[in-house]
Amino acid sequence: MKICVTGGMGYIGSHTCVELIKTGHTPVIIDNLVNSNKEVLNRIQKITGVKPAFYEFDVRDEAKLDACFASEKFDAVIHFAGLKAVGESVEKPKLYFDNNVGSSKTLIKVMKKYQVKNIIFSSSATVYGTPKHVPLLETDPIGQATNPYGQTKIEIEKLLMAEAKQDPSMNIVLLRYFNPVGAHQSGLMGEDPWGTPNNLMPYITQTAVGRRKELTIFGKDYPTKDGTGVRDYIHVVDLALGHVAALKAIKEKWGLKIYNLGTGKGTSVLELVTTFARVNNVKVNYQFGPRRAGDVAENYADVKLAKKELGWSALYTIEDMCKDAYHWQKLNPNGYAQ
Ligand code: NAD
Ligand code: UFG
Repeated sequence: MKICVTGGMGYIGSHTCVELIKTGHTPVIIDNLVNSNKEVLNRIQKITGVKPAFYEFDVRDEAKLDACFASEKFDAVIHFAGLKAVGESVEKPKLYFDNNVGSSKTLIKVMKKYQVKNIIFSSSATVYGTPKHVPLLETDPIGQATNPYGQTKIEIEKLLMAEAKQDPSMNIVLLRYFNPVGAHQSGLMGEDPWGTPNNLMPYITQTAVGRRKELTIFGKDYPTKDGTGVRDYIHVVDLALGHVAALKAIKEKWGLKIYNLGTGKGTSVLELVTTFARVNNVKVNYQFGPRRAGDVAENYADVKLAKKELGWSALYTIEDMCKDAYHWQKLNPNGYAQ
């Protein structure tokens, strides 16, 4: 299938493009490079032998999006494009709403015009808000967002749900990611955040290669196995394969579907840090600090539905995630910027 991949130059989008090419699909990337680097195209080509078509523009630019849809004739869309920094979203809620919700509205409008009926959307476990229980099920209610970024994901899910109701010929898959980490096994692609990382794994890898002095573990008094926060980390390649599985299923036409993409296993911050140090034989300096505002103690997915209906489940272990993340960071200490 020919797939429009918005945000395909980013962390998850680039890994998904590789898996799409490997399974015979043709990704066409639309990205304004607000949080990515053009070098990604060369890396995709090195891994797969194929350089995907790339359109550099903002998805909110309706005229450019229309022209792209007119010439490409897409079978489906995977919509990754969005801003994702929780802290920044608190400072700039309007920017997050305009960019994330605005781009989704424009995309839906143009999809309708060109009769493109299939869309997979990058949602997040953040839509559950503060979990009342774990593991989280797809049937659990959408919660209260703890930040503007989370609110944009809720708004976009609602937009797509309304679309599905209004037009039963649409096939919409909402994929709720848990905590994507790791990198491509080749070491050619990985996570490359701008500035100081907000997320745990890139902070660990940058500390391990000496770019950061030490990691601060946010809180050691949570009601968890060792007092540190527990999350469901999933290898980015497993996540990419989840999109390929959803695409296969979408062809069968089913209206709206929602799936958690995680491993179903909770890992604490301390467990991740000690596993990383052990499998990579490297020291990761850390200290304990206070809890981070808005963090929950424990968050992991029930993943049975994706296994049952998509035939997909995560294969890579925490050890694999730690090894691949470090491999990427060692080969690219400054990310894609050389
Ligand atoms: P990323 O920042 O690496 O990739 C997003 C890409 O979208 C970037 O290349 C960016 O340049 C592009 N982009 C942003 N706004 C755009 C716009 N208006 N027009 C065109 N391009 C635009 O992020 P990622 O980690 O790959 O995340 C991909 C998607 O998955 C996002 O929607 C994110 O919210 C969602 N998600 C990510 C995580 C995570 O922890 N990484 C967790 C849950 C959900
Ligand atoms: N943590 C630290 N030190 C750090 C960074 C994080 O101790 O320097 C801890 C956090 O307190 C948390 C765990 O590591 O316990 C994971 O934190 P991340 O920031 O890596 O991930 P979150 O679970 O907070 O957030 C992620 C995504 C969000 C998404 C959310 C729910 O980054 O976009 O999962 O899906 F909304």
